[in-house]
Parts: sequence; structure tokens; C-alpha cells
Amino acid sequence: MNQSKMKIDQNTTLFGVVGFPLGHTLSPVMHNAAFEATGLNAVYLAFPTKDPEGCVRGMRALGIRGLSVTLPLKSAVLPFLDEVDPLAKMIGAVNTVVNDRGRLVGYNTDASGALKAMEERTALPNKRCLILGAGGAARAIGFILREKGVALCVANRSHQRGKELALSLQCPYIGLDEMEGRSADLLVQTTPVGMAPHVEESIVPESILRPHMVVMDIVYNPVETKLLRMARARGCVTVSGLRMFLYQGAEQFSLWTGIEPPVEAMRLAVEKALREGHEGN
Ligand SMILES: NC(=O)c1ccc[n+]([C@@H]2O[C@H](COP(=O)([O-])OP(=O)(O)OC[C@H]3O[C@@H](n4cnc5c(N)ncnc54)[C@H](OP(=O)(O)O)[C@@H]3O)[C@@H](O)[C@H]2O)c1
Repeated sequence: MNQSKMKIDQNTTLFGVVGFPLGHTLSPVMHNAAFEATGLNAVYLAFPTKDPEGCVRGMRALGIRGLSVTLPLKSAVLPFLDEVDPLAKMIGAVNTVVNDRGRLVGYNTDASGALKAMEERTALPNKRCLILGAGGAARAIGFILREKGVALCVANRSHQRGKELALSLQCPYIGLDEMEGRSADLLVQTTPVGMAPHVEESIVPESILRPHMVVMDIVYNPVETKLLRMARARGCVTVSGLRMFLYQGAEQFSLWTGIEPPVEAMRLAVEKALREGHEGN
């Protein structure tokens, strides 16, 4: 961001991200660009911490208006909040906390951000979706897709974690080696495989990629992963993880400020940072 335009004084409102490690987070770049574009007297900082209670107490004590919450704190902060939005409660994790005059409310915009990115490219009800991965992001996406009437199937490397998620989502589970020959309308890749610097990796067998299938990879560095490149070449509709990242951030911005998020300014700032070699996470 352009530091010279940034005004910090006694009225500056404080926002930030908590989690550990935060070395690669692009959230400060994205949110500070949004504050600059909207002219808000606000700043967004990174607070590396593994202490869920401490960061919630700090937020209250210092009047921090909004926090993004990332690994390993997304579930751990829940008991310390005053209220948790019903979707976040169902998922069992928050990525956003709003400080509403001392009342701390948690939300999960990973889920709604992913949904918005997918709905830009396809209508979801009655689709059959294969979710690859069973971590926090898979869980958030799985619950919101289930709410939308999507028929799910989970595939994961570790059987136990995969089966647990499938049980929560009341859907079938398959091992990664059972993906071949599986047919789906939508594939959502939620593992870190393919993320820089391992850009030539993918765990999706090319043969399951069929024309018109919708393929989303939530990895956003690179913006076009090997999976998305293969999918595009085979005539699939592709959805980049960058759209999810932008929309989860845009929704955070509107929850915190109550104003329309400047999505274009946020996108340009994140793309510029990625072009300049920022690793993202
Ligand atoms: N675009 C966005 O806005 C956005 C938002 C959130 C997260 N993300 C990205 O999504 C990824 C996952 O995040 P998360 O919070 O869900 O992480 P997580 O809770 O640690 O889960 C990671 C999942 O990936 C699987 N996995 C990891 N390495 C693997 C490998 N080499 N081969 C096969 N499976 C592997 C794990 O399988 P096991 O169960 O077998 O360990 C697990 O299912 C991260 O790269 C994160 O940066 C993107």
C-alpha cells in the first residue's frame, strides 16, 4: 500500500489477523488496500500468537474492532467469544471476530467466500461434489455445500480424518486411490498440494476431469495450479482459490465496517503482492 496516504492518529481503528505462523499471510495487504480505497481511518496488522484466550482478551481490552483468525486458532477461540453465528457453530470454527462495542461475535467467511466463488461459475443445488481433503477448509466448504443441497463425497489421505468428516457431513468417504473412475459435477481440492514452491504437484487423476465439470482449487499461489491447468485443458470450468480468498476477506470487511467492500482494489493488491513474489499461505 501507499504508506504516504495512510493516516494513523488517535482515532485510527485497529484490525488484525491472529494465528501462527503468519509469515506468509496476505490478509494485511488485502485489508489495508481496502481501508485505503474506502478512505477509512483504520489499519490491519499481523499478531502471531498461539494463545486463543489471550488474543480474545487483548481484543476486548484494546478495543480491536475486528480480527481474522487462522490456524491453529480457528476452533480454539470459540469458547472465549460471546456469540457464534449459526453456520460457524455448525462448522465448529471461526475465521472472523467482530467486536461490536465489547460484544465479540464469531463468523466463518471461509465457507461463504468459497460458496460465492463457486456460485459465480455454477448453480449448486443437486450437484454431486467430490471434496478432496478433510481439514478445516474442507469442513467449512462441506457444511455450506450441504446446506445448498449438494450431494457430497469426501476423499482424504488419512482414512480416519476423512471418515470423521464424512460422518459429520453424513456422506460417503473414499480413499485417494479410489478417485479414479469416480464421476462428479464438482471437484473441490482443499489440500495444500500444488502450492508454491511445489507447483508441479497434483493428487487428482487426470482421467476424472471431464468437460464442463466445475473444478475449484482453494490453493491460490500459484493462481492457476497444476490441477486447474489440467482441468482447463480438459474443458472443465475452473474456479481459483484466489476468488475464495478475496470473497472471504470482502465479507470480513463488510462485517467489520458495515460498508460495501472494494473488491477490485483488494484483488489488485493481492495479485500485485503475488506477482512480486509474496508467497501467500
Ligand atoms: N483460498 C482460501 O481462501 C483458503 C482458505 C483457507 C485455507 N486455504 C488453503 O487450504 C489449504 C488447507 O487448509 P486447511 O485449513 O484445511 O488445512 P488443514 O486443516 O491442515 O488440512 C489439510 C488437509 O490436506 C491434506 N493434505 C495435506 N498434505 C497432503 C498431501 N501431501 N497429500 C494429500 N493430502 C494432504 C490433509 O490430509 P490428512 O488428513 O491426511 O493430513 C488434510 O485433509 C491450505 O493450503 C490453505 O492455505 C485457502
